[in-house]
Amino acid sequence: MAEITQEVVMQALSQVMAPDQGKSLIELNMVDFASVCDNSVKVDLIFPSTAYPHRDAVLKATREAIEALEGIKQATVGISLKTPAASAPFQRPANKPTAPVAPKQLLPNIKNVIAISSGKGGVGKTSVSVNLACALTQLGYKVGIVDADIYGPNVPIMMGLRHAKITGEAPNGKPLPPENHDVKVMSVAFLIKEDQPVVWRGPLLDRIIRQFLSDFEWDELDFLLVDLPPGTGDAQLTIMQAASLSGAIIVTTPQEVALHDSRKGLAMFVGQNIPCLGIVENMSYFECDHGQRYEIFGHGGGKAAAEQLNVPFLGQVPIVIEQRAQADLGQPMVIYDPNGKQAAIFRDIAEQVVANLRAVHGQEKVSAPV
Ligand SMILES: Nc1ncnc2c1ncn2[C@@H]1O[C@H](COP(=O)(O)OP(=O)(O)OP(=O)(O)O)[C@@H](O)[C@H]1O
Ligand SMILES: [Mg+2]
Repeated sequence: MAEITQEVVMQALSQVMAPDQGKSLIELNMVDFASVCDNSVKVDLIFPSTAYPHRDAVLKATREAIEALEGIKQATVGISLKTPAASAPFQRPANKPTAPVAPKQLLPNIKNVIAISSGKGGVGKTSVSVNLACALTQLGYKVGIVDADIYGPNVPIMMGLRHAKITGEAPNGKPLPPENHDVKVMSVAFLIKEDQPVVWRGPLLDRIIRQFLSDFEWDELDFLLVDLPPGTGDAQLTIMQAASLSGAIIVTTPQEVALHDSRKGLAMFVGQNIPCLGIVENMSYFECDHGQRYEIFGHGGGKAAAEQLNVPFLGQVPIVIEQRAQADLGQPMVIYDPNGKQAAIFRDIAEQVVANLRAVHGQEKVSAPV
């Protein structure tokens, strides 16, 4: 069966013309998002206005063009919420190699940028990000975290940087990200008052995430973890377009729906040729003082998802009441109780992430820590 790539999809869409304009959807920058996973294609289109008269015709023509591709399993064509001015569409000329809109930022001092993602909210992305970061630090690596959850930035609280502000400046004049537990952190929370809601539109969100990557002095890092908001929205799109990701980690909970959500989250990265370094099943079970296990959110969904999606399973993280309490006090479990069971689980996950990165990219991508 022919493999459908994003390039093939963009080529097909370069043949779909917008009525009255004599130009293709690609030339008119109407394609906001196109992902391909296992020969299933999802495309979101940007229309010039909500009253665009040819909307249905263009949607139909787009779907037909994708359905005509050899080997196609499923074609989903949606409408992007972005306006033409606000969008950052794929400006891919037909039959040229795949190239993202804005150039990816060169981060020569950062060896690996890794996205921490989930289909659903509240499954523990931020908890996994901060503990994984601290575990990698304990293994001897230099680590940073970008809090890409612009509307709900939680990393500073969980990293003990609740009241931190940007104060330091590197010799080259760039501001320094605040640091705690040997991990550098950049978050919008450092730029606003604690109770101030963030009400920014997509383009500003895009700009601020890009600035976090390039306008701050991260120095040399082995890993920059990007803690994403849930789902497949603007922040995900920006990070995939702005940085060369070494991989993505999907966090899920064990219940049945988790499989469905993980599949969606994964498809987004796979469609952009970003390797999945593995799935973490969080809140897997609760073990009481007598050693009895309670599987509050069901059993084994993360492992099943990993098997079905053919990606590595990184492990199960139990519910530990102290973890929640200490997170609120800025102490990841790996720091609070470094010799405890939970810390050992996170260190094991960290070691697997390193091993999987080496398997995908080669030894030099993650050289031995000093
Ligand atoms: N294994 C765990 N044991 C105990 N508490 C946990 C565990 N994992 C996460 N929590 C707690 O659950 C809550 C939600 O976790 P977290 O904020 O990490 O999820 P999230 O996926 O980042 O959420 P959001 O989608 O809102 O960004 C937090 O209070 C966190 O401390
Ligand atoms: Mg979070």
